[in-house]
Amino acid sequence: MSGYDPVKYKISSMQKWNIVAPSYHSDWASKDRGPFRSTIELVKAAEIGPSNSVLDVACGTGAVSIQVARQLGSSGMLVGIDFSSGAIGIARSLAPIGHFVEMDAENIGLGIRFDRIVCQYALMFFPDPARVLSRLWELLKNNGRLAVAVHGTSAEVPYFSTIMDPVLRHIPDIKPEGTPTVHRFGNVANLRGVIAGAGFSNISIKKFIFDYEAGTFGEYWSNYMSTTAQSIRAAIEGRGPSVVSAIRAEAEEKVKKFIDKGSIRFPWRVLVATARREQD
Ligand SMILES: C[S@@+](CC[C@H](N)C(=O)[O-])C[C@H]1O[C@@H](n2cnc3c(N)ncnc32)[C@H](O)[C@@H]1O
Repeated sequence: MSGYDPVKYKISSMQKWNIVAPSYHSDWASKDRGPFRSTIELVKAAEIGPSNSVLDVACGTGAVSIQVARQLGSSGMLVGIDFSSGAIGIARSLAPIGHFVEMDAENIGLGIRFDRIVCQYALMFFPDPARVLSRLWELLKNNGRLAVAVHGTSAEVPYFSTIMDPVLRHIPDIKPEGTPTVHRFGNVANLRGVIAGAGFSNISIKKFIFDYEAGTFGEYWSNYMSTTAQSIRAAIEGRGPSVVSAIRAEAEEKVKKFIDKGSIRFPWRVLVATARREQD
């Protein structure tokens, strides 16, 4: 496979999110369980007041926006942006208030500034997260607050790595080298570094470990393949049944240590960072 191309990556990622948005919402984002216990923590960390103006970056199907809306009074304002029209459509239909706009987080064309900016499970997907954060700094009012949630490292989020590690061992070129990974800011130093580099101060990073019940191995496998691995599934299956069986067998072996009373229970590390914009 040729080298990583940020434009192609963004187009295929947008297509993926358009396809998976409904199941992502019903199976994951709308449930206050597993990694999505972070939604409440993120909104709490953002310290939103009733009259605040709030921007939800890569709002997806609206999980965070719906909670933000509950904090806002009649003088508050909420804007959600995401590049997936499928996800934005769901957010628009579910959030009680808010303006939901299809927009690339790497090219935010908004002419207003906000008291609060929140971003859950998206920073790691942006090809140039440093540039996005610099723009978010510009979009915050003085003393405005940023709150960001990201997944932990590969070892700390075995839901992803239990299948992805064997996939990469059998098909090392499944994704072009340099493609952003979901664990990119799982390390506190990396997360702090990219936020500080954009000019933010008062950075604080809180670590959480949530539990995620993934069911039987068969349920875990099919859920993973239809959501997380949706964009690479055809490439995996294209290698033939013997490669798929080998990946499956390795993942099944790795999952054993997480089985509790017949069901998989994964730990799930989440980092919630907050930071301030201090001056113009
Ligand atoms: C894991 S979902 C998180 C959605 C939502 N924040 C939540 O907590 O449920 C990642 C979202 O990032 C969006 N996304 C990824 N890259 C983006 C970009 N460059 N611009 C805007 N949205 C982007 C996807 O469309 C998807 O909705």
